[in-house]
Amino acid sequence: MTKVTPIEHDYLPAAGRDALLPLYDAMTRLYGARWAHRRLVRRADLSSGLRVLEIGCGTGNLAVAAKRSQPGIALTALDPDPLALQRAHRKSVEIDFERGYSQELRFADGVFDRALSAFMVHHLDDESTKNTVAELFRVIRPGGAVHIVDFVELGHTFARRDQPTFRSAPEVSKQLTDAGFAVEKPEVVRRRMLGTVAFYAAIKPATDQ
Ligand SMILES: C[S@@+](CC[C@H](N)C(=O)[O-])C[C@H]1O[C@@H](n2cnc3c(N)ncnc32)[C@H](O)[C@@H]1O
Repeated sequence: MTKVTPIEHDYLPAAGRDALLPLYDAMTRLYGARWAHRRLVRRADLSSGLRVLEIGCGTGNLAVAAKRSQPGIALTALDPDPLALQRAHRKSVEIDFERGYSQELRFADGVFDRALSAFMVHHLDDESTKNTVAELFRVIRPGGAVHIVDFVELGHTFARRDQPTFRSAPEVSKQLTDAGFAVEKPEVVRRRMLGTVAFYAAIKPATDQ
């Protein structure tokens, strides 16, 4: 009998395991992820012509919500998972979905006006988080902003068993501040099925300040 070897990952995939990925959109919709995406997009104050990066786009739901809210943005969304990216590609041909890791961005300094991230920072270990925040600081232009939503505490059991790294709002704020961002007070919201989530806004200070 042919032995099926599981694919080795150097990242934690969207649903924890590839086998659960087909359920990801339905489960996250049920838990209220779309609500968080819409709120994050509103907070990011997108307007036509802005260059926007999403890190950890998974199956593309936040990217699609952002593009739908402001079709005139130029949006690049990246994820290391080819299986998730296949699903994202099917949702929009107007978003530049590409393979990549948040801790080593291929982009030049200061090329984005906004960076977005939903429910991905807890997929990173401490060192990758530190490098990711430094990379975001590098690729955002002075005066640009990073908008993140992530779990403080999970409210459900889907994909829970794979040891993600949940962090408190003050911890994430400190990591952003240490990288040089001016960080607004996070908005922490408890939702019955989703869990407790925090919305962060981090501004890269303008150079003449
Ligand atoms: C829970 S999913 C969130 C997907 C999407 N943002 C959403 O809200 O539905 C987290 C994603 O982060 C991705 N990820 C894990 N490690 C990453 C890394 N180092 N760089 C970029 N993305 C990463 C995973 O592949 C996964 O697709």
